Amino acid sequence: MRRYRIAVIPGDGIGPEVMSATLPILEAVSETRGDLEFEFITLRAGDGAKEELGEALPKETVREVERCDACLFAAVGRSASEVILPLRQRLDLYANVRPAKIYPNIPALAGKADLVMVRENTEDLYRRVGFRGEDWGVALRIITRRASERIARYAFELARREGRRRVTSVHKANVLDHTDEIFLEACRRVAGDYPEIEYEEMIVDTCAMRLVMTPEHFDVLVTTNMFGDILSDLAAGLVGGLGMAPSGNIGESRAIFEPVHGSAPDIAGRGIANPIATILSAKMMLEWLGEADAARDIERGVVEALERGAPLTPDLGGSAKTWELAEAIRGAILNKPLAQKEF
Ligand code: IPM
Ligand code: MN
Repeated sequence: MRRYRIAVIPGDGIGPEVMSATLPILEAVSETRGDLEFEFITLRAGDGAKEELGEALPKETVREVERCDACLFAAVGRSASEVILPLRQRLDLYANVRPAKIYPNIPALAGKADLVMVRENTEDLYRRVGFRGEDWGVALRIITRRASERIARYAFELARREGRRRVTSVHKANVLDHTDEIFLEACRRVAGDYPEIEYEEMIVDTCAMRLVMTPEHFDVLVTTNMFGDILSDLAAGLVGGLGMAPSGNIGESRAIFEPVHGSAPDIAGRGIANPIATILSAKMMLEWLGEADAARDIERGVVEALERGAPLTPDLGGSAKTWELAEAIRGAILNKPLAQKEF
């Protein structure tokens, strides 16, 4: 029996709703596989934690995330930048991996898309080094060769592992020459080690347009932190919205998996959030843990449930509740029809 201790951070807003839809899916995989088990350790972080405990990111939470095998993170509210950014930087989770893929029966803008955005996750403007005066502000864009080479290598290794054919490095070296020339030099150097993978460079504004017009052109994209933040939401928009966008923050030996969406205060508490982004983040977590079969079980569950047209949440054009969509996926994993009861 393989046992994994999973740090679980439900957070704020729709976070607890999508998390409680996802944990039973992991339990279902454990039940069907029979050879793996999860222990969930629920941790506090976010606006609620700040109000009650005085800190958005309690030290105990960081310690426990470090101790666990992996972490599943839902969403935090206004304090997001006090929670997820320090976690990414302190744990050195340098690769933010954001796949964008069209699933069956999803009302997607793009006809075809199956790409992975690999976003550098530790530096750039996200270091938040700057100054402000009364009427002016300065923010430093920090780009290093070490971090650029590391993220480029991650992108090429991912392409090789997944049998993907092309890596596009996205930059603005025509204007941000101080920083993005370093990023490009690093990407070119790493590209030389992967002759079987096509390498191309694209300026970020062109990339935004081409993602919209010819999304099928793209396979793996690698870029700096801020460009990756913006382009990954664009890519999510192509494949059905943030409700369909999972991600992994991945380091050398630790990782945190989280849906790209935030806490969505506008729909929080109504039980109508799309749980798929979190469910697919759990699938990425299993892959990272080396549980490829279990990860495939989850993806197959999502695909089968959607192929059956299974109750869709409002963001996907339906009127289903979070639990109905999650239960359809859980049923597909367990090979059972949609159960009637609410969990
Ligand atoms: C994301 C989010 C975060 C980011 C925010 C909440 C700090 O937008 O994960 O993309 O900017 O990285
Ligand atoms: Mn973002």
